[in-house]
Amino acid sequence: MVKRLGVITRDCAGINAALRAVVRTATSKQAEVLGIIRGYDGLIDGELRPLDRRAVSGIINLGGTILKSARSERFLTEEGQRQALLTIERHKIDGLIVIGGNGSLTGAHVLAAKYGVPVIGVPATIDNDVNQVDQCLGADTAVNVALDALDKIRDTATSLERIFVVEVMGRDCGYLAMKVALAGGCEDVILPEQDFDLNEICQEIQAGNAQGKVSWIVIVAEGKARAQDVATAITLLTGLETRIAVLGHIQRGGRPTAIDRLLGAKLGSAAVEALLAGETDKCVALKDEQIKLIPLETAIKPKKLIFEPEYRLLKILS
Ligand code: F6P
Repeated sequence: MVKRLGVITRDCAGINAALRAVVRTATSKQAEVLGIIRGYDGLIDGELRPLDRRAVSGIINLGGTILKSARSERFLTEEGQRQALLTIERHKIDGLIVIGGNGSLTGAHVLAAKYGVPVIGVPATIDNDVNQVDQCLGADTAVNVALDALDKIRDTATSLERIFVVEVMGRDCGYLAMKVALAGGCEDVILPEQDFDLNEICQEIQAGNAQGKVSWIVIVAEGKARAQDVATAITLLTGLETRIAVLGHIQRGGRPTAIDRLLGAKLGSAAVEALLAGETDKCVALKDEQIKLIPLETAIKPKKLIFEPEYRLLKILS
């Protein structure tokens, strides 16, 4: 029977809501929770903090993670993994909950499959690129944060009649770029999942320009191109002035939306229940509008997303 849980987090909006749900669900079932500080590095170094119900009050609305986070190079090595295992044994941790994206979930799979540690994952990444998962924690807030920034850029683009190229995050996945472009009423979007033709984009800009359309916003997914390169090429090909904006890490922060708070509450709670029920090497995730258990081995495989229908809609509406 799992009595003491460890919890590791990455950082994005909704993770604190999930952490609160983990702690409060666990304590309601007489299990203790140890928060692991700075991700897998904290597991290696034995940096832990007991979390009771009060320790997670007032955090449901906070972005980031109260546990701090880090990318751990050491956990990628056998030596690092063995040290992590020693911490788990020393602190008598019966099971782990890992809240994060592909890197974190890959680490979770290693602990479960290679070392037999009971582990349940919670997919949380603004990239929304966890395989078989419809909606990762943090993705909805990131779309809304980027959209808010984009609306402000549009004010200037419209007032000054300018072309803007806006770069959004997402690593190798175009999810964030596609959603922001469609919801923001943008003229075009350059995605990792699709080929793009700069000449075609420029011809459209010139044709629009000839009919009096003077402001333009093109979204670029960071996994496909750099905003600066696209903007320079547009100026070269059209002779028109361009400006760029790289939204960067503002997209990973911010107050979680209601969708992310609700998802955090449900997934955090479901993760504890799954672990206490003896499940391991799986993640709890939203799929087909239900909370399901997905094997981590499947979840960490590359996700294939198809954006053609949404892209076609964007071109019709723009
Ligand atoms: O995976 C989340 C993410 O924010 C990506 O969208 C981005 O490419 C990357 O992390 C940035 O990583 P870092 O914070 O280490 O610069």
